[in-house]
Amino acid sequence: MNSEQLIALFPTEKELPVDFQITEPIRQTEYLSNGELRYWDGPSQEVLSPVCIRSETGLFRKLIGSYPLFSEETVLEALDSAVKAYDNGKGLWPTLPVEERISRVEEFVFRLKTKRQAIVNLLMWEIGKSRQESVKEFDRTVAYIIATIDALKELDRVSSRFVIEEGIIGQIRRAPLGVTLCMGPFNYPLNETFTTLIPALIMGNTVICKPPKLGTLLYRPLLEIFRDCFPPGVVNFIYGRGSNIISPLVTSGKIDVLAFIGTSKIADIVKKQHPKPHRLRCVLGLDAKNPAIILPDADLDLAVKECLLGTLSFNGQRCTAIKIIFVQETIAATFLEKLTAALAGIIVGMPWTPEVMITPLPEDGKTQYLSKLVADATAKGAKVINNGGGAVAETLFYPAVLYPVNPEMRVFTEEQFGPVIPVIPFTNIETPIRYIEESNFGQQVSIFSNDPDRVAQLIDPLVNQVSRVNINSQCQRGPDTFPFTGRKDSAEGTLSVSDALRVFSIRTLVAAKENEINQELLTRIVRERKSNFLSTDFIF
Ligand code: G3H
Repeated sequence: MNSEQLIALFPTEKELPVDFQITEPIRQTEYLSNGELRYWDGPSQEVLSPVCIRSETGLFRKLIGSYPLFSEETVLEALDSAVKAYDNGKGLWPTLPVEERISRVEEFVFRLKTKRQAIVNLLMWEIGKSRQESVKEFDRTVAYIIATIDALKELDRVSSRFVIEEGIIGQIRRAPLGVTLCMGPFNYPLNETFTTLIPALIMGNTVICKPPKLGTLLYRPLLEIFRDCFPPGVVNFIYGRGSNIISPLVTSGKIDVLAFIGTSKIADIVKKQHPKPHRLRCVLGLDAKNPAIILPDADLDLAVKECLLGTLSFNGQRCTAIKIIFVQETIAATFLEKLTAALAGIIVGMPWTPEVMITPLPEDGKTQYLSKLVADATAKGAKVINNGGGAVAETLFYPAVLYPVNPEMRVFTEEQFGPVIPVIPFTNIETPIRYIEESNFGQQVSIFSNDPDRVAQLIDPLVNQVSRVNINSQCQRGPDTFPFTGRKDSAEGTLSVSDALRVFSIRTLVAAKENEINQELLTRIVRERKSNFLSTDFIF
């Protein structure tokens, strides 16, 4: 591929497929605050798609809409709504029986499903995600919500009984934490935001959600549903530049939980702004630079298949992507030959192109950044070893395999978050192990080998460096019932369907010394259903 060929992949206005059109820009002025849709008439942010239109004058990014840029005053209104709805834990939502909160979320997911087509289309246009990956993101999110409901039912069943220990009667349940600020990333704007927003909500917290900078318009079809399904102030949306709108929220000291998926740099800035940092519960998914280690006895066809998926799914824009490959020197040439051959067969195109793997990149200046990484590596001795690697046309970047990469190069440590594949030859297994030990990140690793002894020898040290060791498989988050976390700068807290329910709640109990008066008292409260917390009701 060269730049000319990449340019030709962009459609003209007339070539846009009828089924996936955005005919008119979506000018979003509505926002959800305190249970009502309000209208914003202040400044707005234009949304340009990464999908460019080919015209006689060249390529231009298609304008697909705009969204509000809130003032501090509007952000604080949303905060007040969430604080009021929580009302120090006395609000309707945090005191509602679990069964009723579940039924509101069931209603929400029922109505969410009706927006599948609209949201999938917006995922394609806003972040350039392929149609098949966009559909997957939507369906996975629906499945996640349903699994969350089931997990909460199970959790509630286990808690719907009294325990008696050492002469003390107790009922132990999980209670909400307060006002939660949810901020998801652009690469999974729906799924990753919802994997914190939904558990936070269903556990009785109130929520302020800031959609990602790229991937905001896709929340527009959901505002009415949130409004209709939840009491006023329980879910509020804010829009604007993080640097302007997050500080007033956090410095107020009224945010109890920060759920953030993004960079550790931003997470540190936000956390430090809280006047009482120890009061802020944080759930963070941050940076990563997951390595793959290819050993001489690996099945190279399998390793190539998994490494291609690992490095290039959604253009490498996954926190779990394989971002550096260590290959044993004796098999490096064969591995690279197979890798570049397989790479030559991948499809580059628009999000709606069937079977497409490489699509336009949504971040401003991203292709320039990737070109600089490649130029830095080649200036320091690496070569781009695949045909056309690094070719650029506006937002499209043809994947570049860099070899041999060394520690002097930026791509050795920087998280490229894009289709650049650095490969490093090694003779001693200590080389990749030391890389992992010295890295600031500690999310996952992939080991490729068919030798049980070698694999076992690597598993034991690596499980204490990262949070998931993948064998002959790419790095990934799913299945969503598995724990997803990281060490060092990669994460804080653990997410999975069931872990998330725990992360957004705290164990609280009601306890009483076992005597006749207390037995009688507790029996009456339960029998006459006087409390939502102290209850033996069983959710089927
Ligand atoms: O960006 C991080 C996502 O959670 C990746 O999810 O590995 O299942 O694609 P995935």
